[in-house]
Amino acid sequence: MIKLYSISAISLLFVMGVYWSGTSTSVESMSVVELLESKGMDYNSKKPNFGIDGVSAEVGKQLFHEGFSAKPNGGTSGKQSKHFVCTSCHNVTKEDPDLSVSDPQARLIYSEEKGIPFLQGTTMYGAVNRDTYYNGDYDKKYGNLVKPARNDIRGAIQLCATECAQGRELKDWELESILAYLWTIELNVDDIGLTDEVASNMDVESIQAKYLQGSPATFLPPPSDREIGSGLLGRPDNGKLIYENSCLHCHYRGKYSFLHLDNSRLSFKHLKRNISKYSRHSLYQVTRWGVPVKSGKKSYMPQYTEERMSVQQLADLRAYIEEEAS
Ligand code: HEC
Ligand code: HEC
Repeated sequence: MIKLYSISAISLLFVMGVYWSGTSTSVESMSVVELLESKGMDYNSKKPNFGIDGVSAEVGKQLFHEGFSAKPNGGTSGKQSKHFVCTSCHNVTKEDPDLSVSDPQARLIYSEEKGIPFLQGTTMYGAVNRDTYYNGDYDKKYGNLVKPARNDIRGAIQLCATECAQGRELKDWELESILAYLWTIELNVDDIGLTDEVASNMDVESIQAKYLQGSPATFLPPPSDREIGSGLLGRPDNGKLIYENSCLHCHYRGKYSFLHLDNSRLSFKHLKRNISKYSRHSLYQVTRWGVPVKSGKKSYMPQYTEERMSVQQLADLRAYIEEEAS
């Protein structure tokens, strides 16, 4: 008995030790790029060009969050997009508990804990650490437009400004400023579950195995029978998280859309009534195919890939809507 106690006392001390070292390194943890640069990797071509007049991370942050900023020679730039800001569709903090996998359910729970939305676009936290952009099936959607974006973060930012945000092209100083801002939200060594000490003894491949080098994207069609759906049993509690952290992010009070949704029975009845229809009001259609640009109106709704909303999660959302509508 006494022996057992002493073992648990020792393990408690050990756990506390790990805890303390964990918290102390998290304060001054090295950036992942800094670490990889010390091992010979070169990130210079991705770094912003501060030689251009007016470029700063502050300007980039304002552009990203508000859609406009101070111009280099005075005055304010015109809005980048009439419809959206970058944060309509992207978070700017860590959204996955484990950065080496893209798991929408783990992300949903994590976002709920952190009080951040659950969105179609991948977080910009750690975007500068990725090698490829608009991965997987995005070339089906944007075709040749993806080519200059796939391996080039500047191309990715510009593509999103015009295609995703349906806005004007960014000027050089704006583009470099957004890039500068993204460098302020790069990954740190503690984000990938390592300490500086451990990481400095690892090779490049083992370090890079700790986070995804690109955000995977698989397009799914709506279920072939919209009445039956996927056939999976939906969990309304989980669906509620999706409704509130995703749909309402854009639709509450028509924030980024003309369609207003809230927690009233009216909203749920409207959605429920249309689920099985073959129209742009069907839950299945809007989530899997998005809502295209209407003629004369450039706003649209981006679709959710399998990695951004799983088949089970969509069943959960349906179950929640049906429960609340009745
Ligand atoms: C209407 C929604 C929407 C808006 C607004 C939007 N984006 Fe995106 N963005 C997306 C989607 C969807 C993708 C597809 C790839 C992904 O993020 O998973 C994407 C991809 C990206 C990528 C590549 C990410 C990757 O890892 O593949 C970058 C960089 C980016 N956007 C930057 C921006 C910037 C900067 C703005 C503001 C000027 C912006 N986006 C506005 C939806 C949006
Ligand atoms: C990133 C913002 C965003 C998110 C998140 C989002 N939507 Fe949308 N949604 C839009 C926009 C923009 C439109 C285009 C219609 C418009 O301009 O009003 C739209 C259109 C729709 C339409 C069709 C309306 C019509 O009149 O044609 C439905 C239905 C819809 N959304 C439901 C949902 C549901 C359900 C969710 C959650 C799974 C959701 N949306 C998540 C932005 C969003």
